[in-house]
Amino acid sequence: MSGLAIQARGLTRLFGNKTAVQDVSFDVAWGQVFALLGPNGAGKTTTMRMLCTLLRPTAGTAEVGGFDVTTQPINVREQLGLLPENPGLYESLSAERNLRFYGEIYGVPPSKLQGRIEEILKTLEIYDRRGDKIAKFSKGMRQKIAIARALVHEPRILFLDEPTASLDPEASKVVRDFILQLKARGGTILLNTHNLYEAQRLSDRVGIMNTRLVAFGSPHDLADRMWSRSTEVTLKTPDARFVTAIEALGFVKGVRREDGRLIVSMDDPDNDNPRLAEALVRAGAEVVSMKEREHSLEDIYLKLIRGDEAK
Ligand SMILES: Nc1ncnc2c1ncn2[C@@H]1O[C@H](COP(=O)(O)OP(=O)(O)OP(=O)(O)O)[C@@H](O)[C@H]1O
Ligand SMILES: [Mg+2]
Repeated sequence: MSGLAIQARGLTRLFGNKTAVQDVSFDVAWGQVFALLGPNGAGKTTTMRMLCTLLRPTAGTAEVGGFDVTTQPINVREQLGLLPENPGLYESLSAERNLRFYGEIYGVPPSKLQGRIEEILKTLEIYDRRGDKIAKFSKGMRQKIAIARALVHEPRILFLDEPTASLDPEASKVVRDFILQLKARGGTILLNTHNLYEAQRLSDRVGIMNTRLVAFGSPHDLADRMWSRSTEVTLKTPDARFVTAIEALGFVKGVRREDGRLIVSMDDPDNDNPRLAEALVRAGAEVVSMKEREHSLEDIYLKLIRGDEAK
């Protein structure tokens, strides 16, 4: 046993002669939220299905909750909750009946089940509709019930395949806040998403995949590995001579002008920013602001997937 919540090693899956997932390895520690990002067809759902034992890897192995997905699938399943890409619910049953049905299948003690269902439905702000049949529900309402279903048995590890894909902004926020609440209680979550804001906000680690895992780490670490650090300087009146003045400084690796600001790349801004400011003032510039340039997950994603030379 690895002591990790999820440990994937060389996971590979072929469909016919098409490789959907190739040699994917990553770790997720207990209590972490891990987001898998990547374009349509990148293999995110296939990876998740292998981890949930719904699909056998063609090669490679994975442990989920300390159990092997190929040789101990029942032990793996006992620990997980899954929101699949296309969740099916019983249309003619009410939301509450659907949840009770799954809760019973998963062996939730009857004394706990009702309270558990009520709590989840209230948190997801759909409690008022608990008695309505699923057939009467909108797509977003169904999604909330499918999320509730994935959680009704209090799984140790939760797999969410695009949890907010069909939700309106308000409902998305309800679901995101809910995920943060689960995380605060120590929940371990693997999330597939196309929403980079969501990934940045919710996850400790991200994996960017395109059949292979192209990058893995915290958004901050990925940015550090991909770009040198830089300081963004806003001057009252930008002028080419200020660029010349700072280019001459030994610690400056490069200067670009962008929307009237100067982007100054250097290895150690914590140490060198004061000297940068001094040089600018000496050259006659009026410095309005200086701050460290932050790279968003979107910058990282686009650079890796499209090769954009962003910022
Ligand atoms: N059951 C299947 N049979 C054949 N090919 C499949 C099957 N499931 C997935 N694939 C193929 O595997 C590749 C990866 O698909 P997958 O659904 O894992 O991508 P994804 O990253 O989840 O994409 P999306 O963002 O669109 O959900 C695609 O080329 C897809 O056509
Ligand atoms: Mg998918």
